Amino acid sequence: MSFHATLRKGASSVFLRIEEALDAPFGGQDNPLRHLGAIGLYLLWIVVGTGLYLYTVLDTGIDAVYSSIGYLSREQWYLGGVLRSLHRYASDGFMLVMLLHLVREWAYGRYHGFRLYSWLTGIPLIWLAYAAGIGGYWIVWDQLAQLSATATTELLDWLPIFSEPAARNFLAPDSINDRFFTMLIFVHIGVPLLLILGLWAHVHRIAHVDYLPSRRVMLGTLAALVVLALLRPALSNPPANLAVIPGALDFDWFILFIHPLTDISSPAIVWSLLFGVTALLFALPVLPHPAPTPVAVVDAANCTGCDRCLADCPYAAIAMRPHPRRPGLKLAVVDADLCAGCGICAGSCPSSTPFRRREVLVTGIDMPQRPVNALREQLEAALARLTGRTRIVLFSCARGADAKTLAAADTAVIDLLCTGQLPPAFVEYALRAGADGVLVTACRAGGCAFRLGEQWTQQRLLGEREPHLRRTVPPSRLQVVLASAHDDDRLAEALADFRSRLDSQPTTSDRLPPYRRSAPPQA
Ligand code: HEM
Ligand code: SF4
Ligand code: SF4
Repeated sequence: MSFHATLRKGASSVFLRIEEALDAPFGGQDNPLRHLGAIGLYLLWIVVGTGLYLYTVLDTGIDAVYSSIGYLSREQWYLGGVLRSLHRYASDGFMLVMLLHLVREWAYGRYHGFRLYSWLTGIPLIWLAYAAGIGGYWIVWDQLAQLSATATTELLDWLPIFSEPAARNFLAPDSINDRFFTMLIFVHIGVPLLLILGLWAHVHRIAHVDYLPSRRVMLGTLAALVVLALLRPALSNPPANLAVIPGALDFDWFILFIHPLTDISSPAIVWSLLFGVTALLFALPVLPHPAPTPVAVVDAANCTGCDRCLADCPYAAIAMRPHPRRPGLKLAVVDADLCAGCGICAGSCPSSTPFRRREVLVTGIDMPQRPVNALREQLEAALARLTGRTRIVLFSCARGADAKTLAAADTAVIDLLCTGQLPPAFVEYALRAGADGVLVTACRAGGCAFRLGEQWTQQRLLGEREPHLRRTVPPSRLQVVLASAHDDDRLAEALADFRSRLDSQPTTSDRLPPYRRSAPPQA
């Protein structure tokens, strides 16, 4: 295994352990590590909202800018001061969350194939975020601004882009004028606008984007920021004075870390690091990867153009086009570059119902590596073999807890690409064709490798999403367990509990009418 692969594997196992540990206090839906992108967007909205207020009170004249910002913190500490602190701390939080999000996506190997676009569009966002953050500190025009402006221009001077040293010319006392500040503000508003545009591009090829975290996470984050703002208000350092060298200053390590880094190394080392890491991030997708999984395939004869696969696909890989042979009807079309091979579309297609009597079950949209027909055949063969007092069919996710070891004479395990591949009618089919109970296992909330599998599965089984499980199916005979890759024990315990519950239940009280499509296949 290469050094990179070993490093990534180690990082992913550490990340997963921390993520799973946070499930206990937060619960899956509120787990911050599972919603880093959404928290990043939320923090950005706080930055934008508070920034708008700061902009309205800011005097952009060279002599007034420092005092107009200082006024907020001193005279208007209860509003302007708090908003200024929120602006600063939400920006710091944004940097932290962005870097964690980057490391998480890298650790889980989410930088190639159908995620290539999200990955490549994410990288320029880091540069934009830092450009906006560093520029923000200059506006205050205190000694920290002076230090940052000088250090940045010195850093820029090292690049062969200016004909003469910018630091010397541009930071001479008489070169700092009102126009300079107006330009600074344009930059400080323009770069975040570019960032927002970049973020739109970043997520626009993903469906059902996690735009905002849960209400609890939003309120908790806002409360933490307000408390921080009151306990440690963001204040200016002494005013800039180009005639003196700044002394000891209040520093922001989240945004301005690059300056001390330049101090202890050199501009050459810092640029090599910045360009090197950026080039590495761009190069990651070129590394050898496991062969891509086969993509979904549409069968025109069995597609009715109902749009359900379009609504459920997590990666916006499906579009609807006019049906070539049925005027007035639509046909699903898959974009192979975007398809994740998750099978969630096959689970959503109404034609995937196993109750169709056809010898070979051909559905509207299917996965060549795990067709719905093979699922039905495997289920029928397994049901024919099951023995014992309480026969259970366990539908499991190939990426979740390992269910194979639980297969036994009274337990059939049917593996799915993602639990979202399960058409709900299979649950009813299993119960009517001989199972006493059906256990469906999906990854923990927010932990689906394909983003939405566990959500859609639960909603379909609860009757909240089409195609839904029929209400005639007795809830007591169905159990859903959320168990990710490290949760083998949890799954085993849930199976044992489910079995003992079924054992204690009268066998005939809630039975569905038996159903047999044809003579069961020979085991
Ligand atoms: C600037 C801050 C960023 C924000 C606010 C942000 C936000 C988001 C959001 C909201 C999503 C969709 C998550 C979902 O709905 O499941 C997402 C996905 C993604 N982001 Fe970012 N992102 C940022 C930066 C980055 C960076 C720097 C990278 C890496 C270079 C990156 C890589 C990805 C990838 C690979 C996905 C796809 C995840 C998947 O398909 O499961 N993002 N991002
Ligand atoms: S396999 Fe997954 S990503 Fe591909 S079209 Fe179906 S739902 Fe979309
Ligand atoms: S869910 Fe099935 S029938 Fe509906 S549009 Fe998609 S492929 Fe066609």
